[in-house]
Amino acid sequence: MNKTTKQTPTDQHISNYNDYDYDKEFWQAVDRRYEDACEKNMVRRMLARIHEPIHVVVDSGCGFGRLFPAYSNVGKRHILMDYSENMISQAKERLGNHESCEFIQGNLYDIPLEEGVADVFISVRTIHHLPDLHVYASEVHKTLSPTGHLIVEVPNKRHALNIAKWLVGRGAANPFHKDPLIFSETFVNFHPRMAIKVFKRAGFHVKHVDNTNFLRSSFIKRIIPLPLLMMFDRLLSRFLSWANLAPSVFLLLQKKP
Ligand SMILES: C[S@@+](CC[C@H](N)C(=O)[O-])C[C@H]1O[C@@H](n2cnc3c(N)ncnc32)[C@H](O)[C@@H]1O
Repeated sequence: MNKTTKQTPTDQHISNYNDYDYDKEFWQAVDRRYEDACEKNMVRRMLARIHEPIHVVVDSGCGFGRLFPAYSNVGKRHILMDYSENMISQAKERLGNHESCEFIQGNLYDIPLEEGVADVFISVRTIHHLPDLHVYASEVHKTLSPTGHLIVEVPNKRHALNIAKWLVGRGAANPFHKDPLIFSETFVNFHPRMAIKVFKRAGFHVKHVDNTNFLRSSFIKRIIPLPLLMMFDRLLSRFLSWANLAPSVFLLLQKKP
């Protein structure tokens, strides 16, 4: 009899945040209040589109729990999962006093959660570490309840700046090509249409597509005050999301019945 074993990428194919102070070195070293606010708003807006009851929310890879304020008022149980022990202990330190929170070390390529447990699964700034999107999509699909939703941020390889650079000969890779843009074994960007295809094949249907982080240039952030930036981002998101030209494409996906 043939025995099938699940092929999961080994540790060396996983981005290691154990020796990286993600909060200090990424969020605090440079002013990223704009990106932080955009992403939290986007999670809130996506959650507002879900009309089915939400009891359990899974945030993975949760990092140090940055996005918790965006979903804390939805659901009764919040499971924060990350591959990195360091990230999990930072998340515990910040959010351990919230009774609704549970912290789990685990790999998105082999999710250690009960099947069907999650009503909503959230992954922001995470799938750029998951070149094997097919495995991620089918693992999340298993973890979701029958009417469950996935809110996922797709790092967009064909955003406006990449297109402009390529048109003037400064970008080596064709942003319109469907293959992922590979920076390293554990750092990739995707063509939104290709990512959507992978999720559909795994059994999801697309409920909503939105874009954010349109203005994430340090020059723009320096000259335009944050409230104005947020207003422009909202406008661009409303009128331009159909074109998927922003660096962050957010998908709201639901498990097909
Ligand atoms: C850029 S951080 C984003 C953290 C958080 N989502 C946020 O937006 O602040 C990426 C996170 O994904 C986690 N990660 C990377 N590969 C993973 C995997 N295979 N399974 C679970 N977590 C993973 C990393 O440890 C890290 O905490």
